[in-house]
Amino acid sequence: SPPAIIAPSILSADFADLGAECSNTIKRGATWLHIDIMDGHFVPNITFGAPVVTKIRSHVERPTTKHGKGTFDCHMMISEPKKWVKEFQKAGCDLYCFHYEAAIDSTAAESPESTSELKTNPRELIRYIHECGMLAGIAIKPETSVDVLWDILASNQEKEVPDMVLVMTVHPGFGGQKFMASELPKVAELRKRYPELNIEVDGGLGPGTIDQAAEAGANVIVAGSAVFGAKDPAEVIAKLRDAVES
Ligand code: DX5
Ligand code: ZN
Repeated sequence: SPPAIIAPSILSADFADLGAECSNTIKRGATWLHIDIMDGHFVPNITFGAPVVTKIRSHVERPTTKHGKGTFDCHMMISEPKKWVKEFQKAGCDLYCFHYEAAIDSTAAESPESTSELKTNPRELIRYIHECGMLAGIAIKPETSVDVLWDILASNQEKEVPDMVLVMTVHPGFGGQKFMASELPKVAELRKRYPELNIEVDGGLGPGTIDQAAEAGANVIVAGSAVFGAKDPAEVIAKLRDAVES
């Protein structure tokens, strides 16, 4: 597997002190910051938008390498992912991870003759994100089959290949939910076919669930409540990293 990447989710940070929370989290050993953007439509919750990302960017140095320390991993739980690409790039997002379910054209989904369009939409969005100068991630909810990703991952167009796949291990919308081990076969299948792919897991991860996720093949680990709710966040970050590296 590719290197371990620990990406604490700032959803569980103190929003009134976000700049310090972000810079401290990197100092405590995090690789990336996972930034949850929710629009109250794709998910039943609202967080914040690009202006907040702009403000926290000034507290965290930009990564100097691809996938490097300080990467802003923006998890876009929004209904119109294409609409916000440029704005988040300007705000300082490094990796724009959209949801497959939001990218597919719902009108195309309703008419069987346009299945090909269904498959090309996520690819076009990945291309657009790359053209805007960011890394691209594609996320799937628990109810979405991993099979929707094979065509996308097999693209022979370099610009249309995602840099990361996010397998949700909770229903997106809230921190602090119970880990769904039922999602791990998706991770294992992805890892089997793509030994070098960055595979992110998000939801319910912490010292008690990390071993199964690492065993399945995840290398990018999101943890919100487990890190920000801990007495010693640095210790939790180190534990998560050790579990992935061992
Ligand atoms: C949930 C978000 C997660 C969330 C994880 O919709 O995508 O990133 O912050 O929180 P924990 O780690 O507490 O489950
Ligand atoms: Zn997330």
